Amino acid sequence: MKQDPVTAENPAPEKNRSARARVRTHHLQQAKDRGERFSMLTAYEQYAAEIFDEAGIEALLVGDSASNNVFGNETSLPVTVDELLPLCRSVARSVKRALVVADLPFGSYEVSPQQAVATGVRFLKEGLAHAVKIEGGSFYAETIRAMVEAGIPVVAHIGFTPQSEHSLGGYRVQGRGDAAQRLIDDAVALTEAGAFCILMEMVPAATAALVDAAIPVPTIGIGAGNATTGQVLVWQDMAGLRGGKMAKFVKQYANLRNVIAEAARTYADEVRSGQFPGPDHSY
Ligand code: KIV
Repeated sequence: MKQDPVTAENPAPEKNRSARARVRTHHLQQAKDRGERFSMLTAYEQYAAEIFDEAGIEALLVGDSASNNVFGNETSLPVTVDELLPLCRSVARSVKRALVVADLPFGSYEVSPQQAVATGVRFLKEGLAHAVKIEGGSFYAETIRAMVEAGIPVVAHIGFTPQSEHSLGGYRVQGRGDAAQRLIDDAVALTEAGAFCILMEMVPAATAALVDAAIPVPTIGIGAGNATTGQVLVWQDMAGLRGGKMAKFVKQYANLRNVIAEAARTYADEVRSGQFPGPDHSY
């Protein structure tokens, strides 16, 4: 079909969302205000970041889940600031549009608000992150206030907080029954302290909906039902790169593990048989 010429009055239609302006914290707020939703995925390196950015994922999380998805640890606890910073820099340099949020790893913010500010500054300055995330409830209100005053946008992560796995007694749903009110109180306190977004993990959908309704800022859920403004998944889970048992809240949209394994097997077979490299791939 013939198309009208592109002029100032008749601009070219946007091909995809990555053609739009950079996503800022206020855009996530606008999403909540307008009743729209946004998506977030973890990313730990250049190509995943590029692909998700081009696919229109609004926010990328350089999660401390790099610990068990990049560095081979069993939990998120061992990963360090010095290990996460280069991953964060790689992601931030690779996106044109997505908001890049970095996790502050376990041990890098709990000691004092001053420690949290110092670590947050490193993630914005050396990691080129646009915002950071810390785990914990209203106990961290003072910490978040100090970080926000220092110019560091903060996402507060409540519900199941993996860095507290040992004190919470393992991976368990949080905010059931009477605990729902505590979660709401936490979210209100952290929002009042200046968190621009509340992330909830493994929380009953009904509790997450109450939390979302109790605060003006956007919420992001992972295993928290669909009343939150945004959703986040670990990308290797979402795309089926990781093997093994998945949490109930994970939906797999591809099976990259099979695709890559099949490519590797075919490559190895062709090398063994002498089929690769053939004339097309030789000088
Ligand atoms: O590090 C991470 O992947 C996270 C998600 C579970 C939200 O914090």
